[in-house]
Amino acid sequence: MSLIDKPYQTNLDMTNFLRTQNNKSLLRFMTCGSVDDGKSTLIGRLLYDTEQVFDDQIPNLAENSTIDLALLVDGLSAEREQGITIDVAYRYFATDIRKFIVADTPGHAQYTRNMATGASTADLAVLLIDARSGVLEQTRRHAFISSLLGIKHVVVAINKMDLVAYSQQKFNQIEENFRAFADRLNFTDIHCIPVCALSGDNVTKPSNNMPWYRGKDLLSLLESVELSSGEKPAEFRFPVQWVNRAADDFRGYAGTICSGKVKKSEEIIVIPSGNTARIKEIITMDGRLECAKNHQAVTLTLDKKIDISRGDFICSKASAPEHSDQFQASIIWMGEEKLFPGRGYLLKTCNHTVPASITALKYMVDVDDFSHVSAKTLGLNDIGVCNLSLGKSIVFSAYADNRTMGSFILIDRRTNKTVAAGMLNFSLRRASNLTWQSLEVGKRERGKQKHQKPAVLWFTGLSGSGKSTIANLVEKRLFDMGKHTYTLDGDNVRHGLNKDLGFTDADRIENIRRIGETAKLMADAGLVVLVSFISPFAAERDMARRLMGDREFIEIHVNTPISVAEERDVKGLYAKARAGEIKNFTGIDSDYQIPENPEIVVNTISLTPEQSAEKIVAYLKKNGFMEVVA
Ligand code: ADX
Repeated sequence: MSLIDKPYQTNLDMTNFLRTQNNKSLLRFMTCGSVDDGKSTLIGRLLYDTEQVFDDQIPNLAENSTIDLALLVDGLSAEREQGITIDVAYRYFATDIRKFIVADTPGHAQYTRNMATGASTADLAVLLIDARSGVLEQTRRHAFISSLLGIKHVVVAINKMDLVAYSQQKFNQIEENFRAFADRLNFTDIHCIPVCALSGDNVTKPSNNMPWYRGKDLLSLLESVELSSGEKPAEFRFPVQWVNRAADDFRGYAGTICSGKVKKSEEIIVIPSGNTARIKEIITMDGRLECAKNHQAVTLTLDKKIDISRGDFICSKASAPEHSDQFQASIIWMGEEKLFPGRGYLLKTCNHTVPASITALKYMVDVDDFSHVSAKTLGLNDIGVCNLSLGKSIVFSAYADNRTMGSFILIDRRTNKTVAAGMLNFSLRRASNLTWQSLEVGKRERGKQKHQKPAVLWFTGLSGSGKSTIANLVEKRLFDMGKHTYTLDGDNVRHGLNKDLGFTDADRIENIRRIGETAKLMADAGLVVLVSFISPFAAERDMARRLMGDREFIEIHVNTPISVAEERDVKGLYAKARAGEIKNFTGIDSDYQIPENPEIVVNTISLTPEQSAEKIVAYLKKNGFMEVVA
């Protein structure tokens, strides 16, 4: 799987290409450079000189008397309009010696996400540098991400040598600069080549203009670079992507082998069920095989009927895989919105999608000198190391051992957008050391003893909207009816449990995370819990909702427009915020996200606090919360 969303296996043209060139070794490489470094021209040159230009592209090119090589690859219209490449495009070509897949990734800083996509499947990176400008911050970033994503071989193509009069001195200086920092990264080899992509000098043929360069041209180097994946000799791992029930008596398990190899009649184990069987057949587009290996797309059949579903793993029985729900991971942040520790995301690996949150951000990497900087959050394109906690154990490998099983993406639950690409470094193993104590007396029993249904009434709204006043009145009514209650109030809790937290977005998220967990414990104790916090972000209110049982969470929006809350200004805080004495004040310079589907809305302009409380109690009665549980 590629890290983001373009598994190359799904590209039929590419599958055909790989099959027709079956006898040759495959090199996957990526190109990266800053805008205008000449990447498209370089790739165009490789395609043109290896005669991979398709007929339908020729007339287009012939219109211009001098061929614009960049037109061969600048297929995306947006790119033509903007003059920058905005997505990863995979292209393929072959020589007599090798076949190649090149991931063409853009250099613009905001497109680091695409670069990570390309790098996650590449064996080698070609980094382009404009000879006139030398090593830039982008070059360092690209080198660092390539290394982070496990690329071992780097070719630095120092382009546009014609524009620096083919100067050897200039070339040497750039090479020295590059090696000075790249030697600290995890590359096994670095080659620097002076090229002129436009004329083809040192791209596919040696250059007469630079006789001082005695190394290989780019294509010869790509043909000869020796590849070792760096990955450990791996055990057989097969994520089941689809169960094929083509006929009544046929059960085939389809997917792409992501580690090791498998042969007919080998014993396998299915995770998580632990069922075992033997491989009966290995079926592919090219017929039945005796054995298959990593990266091959196959359908497996077994010698007996066992229960296997999509998302399960078929593994060699001799070595069952590890699983865990706590990890240390490296991540590249790609979201427009910042990363917030404590916020709930979805984590997607090659075969699982599970709830996840970042429990601690260990550090951020400064790409200038690769130093570790302490940070509370990561923004677009930032790279960091964090601890992750998942809602469920997953089968995994460290990324260094297996790129497919060790890579993941994080998805924002609300927008469904990919916000990070990541690599699992190791399991924190806490999962196996900590067990959940299941107790004889549970929430149900504790509620029953109090003759009530535990619940969480979650009041959200601006500061001064009237949350606490209304929550107080509701609690009093419930108390008078003999209910066992407790109120968690923002101002009060911030004097104790949460006194270390301020009002930045990150602190508010942590504030609500703790309160969500506390409310859950209290509901578990059998109480009716009233929570009165601004809780400005929908993501954390959703998280609190997910913590509680079905229908136990009642979101109450105390709806007071900011103008009214500000006019009332009971605590005098709005005046201070307007005067600039309080920063990050909700509704002024900090966001409040209005609940989309709350169970109850109380409008404090049309209702008195007593009427609001009555409306809430009426809701509870109508929905069975007031029944006396015997
Ligand atoms: S929350 O956003 O993290 O949910 P919380 O409900 O705990 O906020 O605390 C809000 C209370 O803190 C307000 O009612 C107000 O009295 C006080 N406060 C102090 N500074 C701020 C601020 N910058 N923004 C909002 N409330 C603030």
